[in-house]
Amino acid sequence: MTRLHEEAKRDHRPGLISGIRPTGELHVGNYYGALKGLVDLQERYDARYFIADIHSLTTHPKPDDLRGYVIATARNYLAGGLDPERCTLYVQSSVAAEICELHTYLSMVMPLGELMRVPTFKEKAKRHPDNVNYGLVGYPVLMAADILLFKAQTVVVGEDQLVHLEIARTIARRFNQLYGEVFPEPQPLIDNAARIPSLSGAGKMSKSDGAAAYISLKDDERAVEEKIRKAVSDPLRVYRDQPGHPTAEGCNVYHLHTFFTGEAERRDIADQCRGARIGCVECKRKLAGSMSDIVEPFRRRRERLSEADTVDMLRIGRDKAKASAQQVIAEVRRAMGLQML
Ligand code: TRP
Ligand code: SF4
Repeated sequence: MTRLHEEAKRDHRPGLISGIRPTGELHVGNYYGALKGLVDLQERYDARYFIADIHSLTTHPKPDDLRGYVIATARNYLAGGLDPERCTLYVQSSVAAEICELHTYLSMVMPLGELMRVPTFKEKAKRHPDNVNYGLVGYPVLMAADILLFKAQTVVVGEDQLVHLEIARTIARRFNQLYGEVFPEPQPLIDNAARIPSLSGAGKMSKSDGAAAYISLKDDERAVEEKIRKAVSDPLRVYRDQPGHPTAEGCNVYHLHTFFTGEAERRDIADQCRGARIGCVECKRKLAGSMSDIVEPFRRRRERLSEADTVDMLRIGRDKAKASAQQVIAEVRRAMGLQML
């Protein structure tokens, strides 16, 4: 056994996995929604996080875009607190040989009819009838390969991915029935993502609303202040001497305070707002301050982390992931009667 094989065996924390979609910039909603949960979990679990670049190929992203997104995503997640000493962070395609091999084996135990009835597949096929590719119907099988390749017991997913996880469980069961107990049945751990409201007051923060409606983790203090200054607040408070409605429903700015500002300061703000002793301009300045407390350290860490360092860290992740993946592939081949000639 190599040193990496031994290291992979020595970690006694329970195994956990999650896939991250490669996207460009992150906003504070993503930070609370996805990233922070993964950062906390790397302490208690032997966590593997990967950037799902092969999955993203179903929609044919431009090669240069994809390359850029993968590195940008890794850099953002590292700046946000993923630590290569505590977790294994890798790019899916850097373990492609093992993942795609397992995907082929798993595809043999998964009935096509069931895959074609998966709601996410049906919905995508309906929306893009000109791009119903073989990979799209196999998307959940590829996901099962990601998970089972590491015999992960726990999978962090959003609600929208539960159906896919159920398929991974079914595949594990069917494989085990045919070839003996090889895979544990993975359990979901739902990321109860906080829903950070949009600056526009309409729904949750999202990039599709335009740059003025979200705080990017790249925004510097001035940009944060500028955007918050224009954020929608209490529509019923038109004049400075009117009392406001400082609740999540009554004022969007106050709603944002509930995520970013400490309780004591928030209570002060609410009291003063009800008594018309604080104006919205000042209240927003306070919000910008508490948001910058989150965004600034992130921005600085991200700036200090070069692309080259990011790639180095991804290579460490790749080597760790590959070492344990090869062990599972050998076991799977043995179980199925494929010989290592
Ligand atoms: N499909 C997931 C998503 O869109 C990403 C993903 C791919 C994933 N493979 C996975 C998540 C394996 C958990 C486990 O969010
Ligand atoms: Fe909302 Fe703050 Fe204005 Fe009160 S002072 S209405 S909480 S923005």
